[in-house]
Amino acid sequence: MEMPVLETIRTLRSMRRLKPDPVEPHKIHLILEAAGKAPSGGNSQPWEFIVITDPPVKKQLRDLTVQGLEIYAKSNLRIPKDAVTEFLQPTNPVTLMAQNTDKVPVLILACLNTKRARRLTDDWAWLEEQANWASVFPAVQNMLLAARALGLGTAVSIFPLFLLEKLKQLLKVPDYVKPGILVYVGYPATRFSEASRLPIETFIHKDGW
Ligand SMILES: Cc1cc2nc3c(=O)[nH]c(=O)nc-3n(C[C@H](O)[C@H](O)[C@H](O)COP(=O)(O)O)c2cc1C
Repeated sequence: MEMPVLETIRTLRSMRRLKPDPVEPHKIHLILEAAGKAPSGGNSQPWEFIVITDPPVKKQLRDLTVQGLEIYAKSNLRIPKDAVTEFLQPTNPVTLMAQNTDKVPVLILACLNTKRARRLTDDWAWLEEQANWASVFPAVQNMLLAARALGLGTAVSIFPLFLLEKLKQLLKVPDYVKPGILVYVGYPATRFSEASRLPIETFIHKDGW
C-alpha cells in the first residue's frame, strides 16, 4: 500500500547513513518522474538531473565534496573558529556523509538550465535568479518525497558547489547549466524518525509581520 502524503512529509528526514546496496533503476526513474511533475514558473521546467552511479566519478565527487565541506566549515559564520576541527570529525554525521559520498549507490545533481529558465531585464536580475531556483527546488522536494514513499533514504549536499568549476568539469556540465544541489539516494541504514522542528506558530504572521 502507498504511504499517505502527509505521513511521507512528516517522516522525511535527511538520511545521512545509507546502505551501499544498489537501488533498482525503476525506482530511480519513479523519483525522477515525480521531480518532473513539479510546478515551475510559466511551466518552464528549467530543471536538469545528472544521475551519477559510476564508481570512479563518485570517487572524484567524494573528493570535491570533502574539500567543499572543509571550505564550508571554515567559512560558516555560525561555526565558531575553535569548533571547526571537531565539526570535521567523522563523529559529525554531516562530515561522515561527505566522506562516504562514493559509497552511496545513486547521486543526483539537480541543476538549473538557464536556456529554459525565465529571462528578465538586467535590473530584475535578483528576481530572475530567485524565481528560477524556485522553479528547481520544488522538483527536488518531489524527488525526496517520492524516494521516502518508496522506502528509500535521501540527503542533500551543497558542499561540492564550493568547487563549482571543478564540479562542472567532472560532470561535463555545459556553461548555461548551473548546479544547484547534490541529492544522495539509497536504502536507509537507520530508521526514519520524526523531523525536529519548531512549532509552526513560531513562523506565522497574521495580516502582515
Ligand atoms: C538548501 C539545503 C542545503 C543543504 N545542505 C546540506 C549539506 O551540504 N550537507 C548536509 O549534510 N545537509 C545539508 N542539508 C540538510 C539540512 O541540514 C537538513 O535538512 C536540516 O538540518 C534538517 O534536518 P532533517 O532533514 O534531518 O530533518 C541541506 C538542506 C537544504 C534544504
